[in-house]
Amino acid sequence: MAEKIIILGSEGQVGTDLAASLRAVYGKNNVVCSDIKPATEEKQDLGPYEELNVLDRNAITETFRKHKPTMVYHLAAMLSATAEKFPRKGWDLNMEGMFSIFDACMEFDVKRVFWPSSIAVFGPNTPRIDTPQFCVMDPNTIYGISKLAGERFCEYYHQKYGLDVRSIRYPGLIGWKAKPGGGTTDYAVDIFHQALIQNQYTCFLKADTALPMMYMDDAIKATINVTEADSNLIKIRSSYNLSGMSFDPKTLSDEIARQRPGFHIDYDIDGRQQIAESWPQSIDDSAARNDWGWKPDFSLETMVSEMLKQLSKMGVGAN
Ligand SMILES: NC(=O)c1ccc[n+]([C@@H]2O[C@H](COP(=O)([O-])OP(=O)(O)OC[C@H]3O[C@@H](n4cnc5c(N)ncnc54)[C@H](O)[C@@H]3O)[C@@H](O)[C@H]2O)c1
Repeated sequence: MAEKIIILGSEGQVGTDLAASLRAVYGKNNVVCSDIKPATEEKQDLGPYEELNVLDRNAITETFRKHKPTMVYHLAAMLSATAEKFPRKGWDLNMEGMFSIFDACMEFDVKRVFWPSSIAVFGPNTPRIDTPQFCVMDPNTIYGISKLAGERFCEYYHQKYGLDVRSIRYPGLIGWKAKPGGGTTDYAVDIFHQALIQNQYTCFLKADTALPMMYMDDAIKATINVTEADSNLIKIRSSYNLSGMSFDPKTLSDEIARQRPGFHIDYDIDGRQQIAESWPQSIDDSAARNDWGWKPDFSLETMVSEMLKQLSKMGVGAN
């Protein structure tokens, strides 16, 4: 049977890239994008689009009935920095949104569901270097608490109801197609825009705050690979650790300056520093490598060169 895919939260940083990749593989009419953001002609030209709130169960039922998805990618969420400003809203969106989509997937016999977790599931008592797959997890942000609870429900829905949910713990994601949506690692995207606009960036994290990061192409590859892998290869039903690279703002700015001489970084630290300090510096992803063959393609050097090249092509910094 031909696949029919629905993406929830398709207009964000991940969805923009994921939709383009899935449409290239499955054909544009077999991938339905949906988001709370209104439809525009531009979006509809790219393929089917539904304006859909993941908290509206009736609208979800209608959309699933109309499109009969075989695979679902549920990306709609409130990210770490924004959820700290609106904790109750963040919790409601992240949890209720997940329940309503998982329940619809069960009702409509969806074959597979992808739901992303995050390195935010870890906390201050988690080992911070090469963070293991299974360890102390004591997140102290609303976002991290909602992602950890979400992971437990992924496993629960699989064990109790047989829902085939797959999940990975994304590190900070770096891509050029869309701007980031209010996370703690947003600096690692903004820095490229400012490098091209004014060859200077003011960073909200301290110079030596190392965090796990990943180039978007790698994240999309992992997302599609884990969702399409044979069921018997998926041994972890909560969420897989996933690693691409690890760097701090100084290391990133040194590499940008190497590729773009004269680039300069300053620091003006804000509340996101505290969130970053509760997260791992690097991740052990051997389970993902062993179980379903995960391997990243991009290093710090190749990621920086791609980001500068693609954003320049888009005209960032040209005036
Ligand atoms: N970007 C990262 O670095 C990162 C890291 C770890 C995990 N993640 C996870 O990946 C997923 C996608 O993240 P992203 O970076 O694309 O986020 P984003 O904020 O860029 O995009 C989220 C999208 O969800 C939509 N949305 C918000 N409320 C909605 C609602 N009620 N109904 C329907 N749509 C709604 C938004 O309009 C937005 O387009 C999220 O679950 C996020 O937690 C992202």
